Amino acid sequence: MRTIAIISSKGGSGKTTLTLHLALAAFAEGARVVIADVDGQRSVGQSLRARQSPGPGLVETTVGKLFTLRVTAEREGCDYVFIDTPNAPDRDLVTAIG
Ligand SMILES: Nc1ncnc2c1ncn2[C@@H]1O[C@H](COP(=O)(O)OP(=O)(O)O)[C@@H](O)[C@H]1O
Ligand SMILES: [Mg+2]
Repeated sequence: MRTIAIISSKGGSGKTTLTLHLALAAFAEGARVVIADVDGQRSVGQSLRARQSPGPGLVETTVGKLFTLRVTAEREGCDYVFIDTPNAPDRDLVTAIG
């Protein structure tokens, strides 16, 4: 399983857009995909809910729960976890992802 975190300190730089497109592309290729949204703005869910067709799984969570999420996703046969992150990620996030 691969974990891909999209990180940029700048707001509006395209993190959520890139997360969605990478996840949807992987899903369209047949991969088992989960998006972990650790941004309190929860923008990923807004976009995913607007779609009609099947897509990646979504977990709206916190940085502190990322480790457990990744272990669970791997155990359940996930191919990718994409992590959408807030602006100005703090040290906890970098540690969790590293
Ligand atoms: N590659 C791109 N080219 C042009 N506009 C983009 C691109 N990526 C994102 N956007 C637009 O920029 C805005 C902010 O993008 P968003 O993904 O929400 O950024 P972030 O999650 O980093 O705050 C949105 O309106 C989005 O549609
Ligand atoms: Mg965003």
